Amino acid sequence: MAERYNVGTVMIDEAQISKRAEEIGKLITEDFAGQEVLVVGILKGAVIWLADLIRHIELDVKIDFMAVSSYGASTKSSGAVKIIKDLDEPIEGKNVIIVEDIVDSGITLNYLKNYLLGMEPKTLKICTFLDKPAGRMIEIDVDYTGFVVEDKFIVGYGLDYAQKYRNLPYISCLSDD
Ligand code: IMP
Ligand code: MG
Repeated sequence: MAERYNVGTVMIDEAQISKRAEEIGKLITEDFAGQEVLVVGILKGAVIWLADLIRHIELDVKIDFMAVSSYGASTKSSGAVKIIKDLDEPIEGKNVIIVEDIVDSGITLNYLKNYLLGMEPKTLKICTFLDKPAGRMIEIDVDYTGFVVEDKFIVGYGLDYAQKYRNLPYISCLSDD
């Protein structure tokens, strides 16, 4: 069957992404100077951003991962969040940074934030690679944002459409032309 969408042009290139990872890594390093941080990556979209980001955090860094229900092969959220993979270790008393690929409606991060706050971490911050404010349905405070993007379906650098395009080293979007 023919593809319904084509991947469009480069919106954010590799050099821009790499510079931003360095900047945010530096901010986190300063904000948590002398402390240990636990970076919780949200599978699968956040893995590439997490991998690049943590190499710019000059602290003791531990990582863990969670997986939640996603859009499936659709470009719109179902509105329901389900935990598919939980944390491996308790986070009580830890400096936790949730690392997400993109905040769209805010539903996923709002759910995760409340869920993790219930485990009484010392601090809980949110770091997202992309922010799409046009899609917001629930207000959510994000502490570290890579880039703000317009209201398009984004792919690349970890973000997928029907599990494809995660391997693009840059950010692009789907176009139907
Ligand atoms: P939210 O709960 O609506 O904020 O959606 C968050 C999740 O939806 C992200 O973790 C992504 O997996 C997915 N998502 C939202 N917008 C996009 C997009 O433009 N491209 C790819 N995935 C997206
Ligand atoms: Mg995701």
